[in-house]
Amino acid sequence: MAATTTPMLEVDDLRVRFATPAGTITAVDGVSLTLGERESIAIVGESGSGKSVFARTLINLLAGNGTRTGTIKIGGRDIDELSTAERKHFFGVQAAMVFQDPMTSLNPVKRIGAQLTEAMRYHLKMGKEEANDRAVGLLRQVHIPSPEKRMRQYPHELSGGMRQRVVIAMALACEPRLLIADEPTTALDVTVQKAILDLLDDLRAERNMSLILITHDLGVAEGRADRIGVMYAGRLMELATAKDLFADMRHPYTQALLRSIPSTDMASHTRLHPIPGRPPDLLNPPQGCAFAARCRHAQPECVDIKPNLLESSGDHWYACHFPVGTSEGRAALERNETAGVTAAGLPLDEAAEEFV
Ligand SMILES: Nc1ncnc2c1ncn2[C@@H]1O[C@H](COP(=O)(O)OP(=O)(O)OP(=O)(O)O)[C@@H](O)[C@H]1O
Ligand SMILES: [Mg+2]
Repeated sequence: MAATTTPMLEVDDLRVRFATPAGTITAVDGVSLTLGERESIAIVGESGSGKSVFARTLINLLAGNGTRTGTIKIGGRDIDELSTAERKHFFGVQAAMVFQDPMTSLNPVKRIGAQLTEAMRYHLKMGKEEANDRAVGLLRQVHIPSPEKRMRQYPHELSGGMRQRVVIAMALACEPRLLIADEPTTALDVTVQKAILDLLDDLRAERNMSLILITHDLGVAEGRADRIGVMYAGRLMELATAKDLFADMRHPYTQALLRSIPSTDMASHTRLHPIPGRPPDLLNPPQGCAFAARCRHAQPECVDIKPNLLESSGDHWYACHFPVGTSEGRAALERNETAGVTAAGLPLDEAAEEFV
């Protein structure tokens, strides 16, 4: 039999539900994706779209009120089938995560050095001195000045940006094969942000590390990620190579998201266009497309029938009945403009400018 490479990550129909006093919410709603060795994918989407819940679920972290269905395989291993002994080494070594809030991963009463070396001594069985040297090296790699001094400090003595870099160093300490980084550079200035993203690129190349980069910012995703997944209300709305996504975006949500965020090469007078309306109430999700109420293309089908994520051409997937750049999409927009309102009741006044 011909040898096939096992994907680094295979997620199949992942769903995460939370029980809340007001009812059950579905924070991740049927996400499937595959990530190859060395490959990087950026997951983008507005606040509350389920990016962090998705990320944490991949390393088997679920809040007490959560339940999960669907399978997660990392390096070919189903994470539900790991023995207790395997589990201890699996997360941290096979897959590690940089959490959105650095304080989640830092122990406030332990020095940075102890926290950084702990995992290396435990998982990699390193001696104290070796782990110490490596920790200093890691701090240097994430551009922390005077690393030796920082090793002796406590988390509260570091600035927010520095703490964020420490948790990146911690996640990299055991040379994970899959790194899940949830907004790893949000609190950092542009130069340091670039340095960290460059470092992650180098590690991917050197160690065949795969990367899931979660970000609010399509601009950060562009040029950094091989593929981009656009998430909304717990679902993937569009999934494509970064090149295809920018050259040929199909989902009206992707387009609206891109137009709502500032980009560094945008002229300062360029207007940003906030996405009208709000994400749906997850306690009472709409029957049809989750974006229909805010979408300029929305037709009766969109209100009634949830579109599936389908592959249109070579690895470009989208979940939309009336995609941007298609004759159906253009006709839908024209109908709504003539009517002055979409099928979901979103007014399209004259001042609102052309989308397609
Ligand atoms: N333990 C929980 N119980 C109930 N709801 C939860 C729980 N954890 C997360 N949620 C809800 O799940 C949804 C998705 O949250 P998540 O943190 O994944 O969003 P996000 O895309 O990471 O947003 P941001 O960009 O602001 O970080 C939100 O509506 C959130 O309130
Ligand atoms: Mg988040």
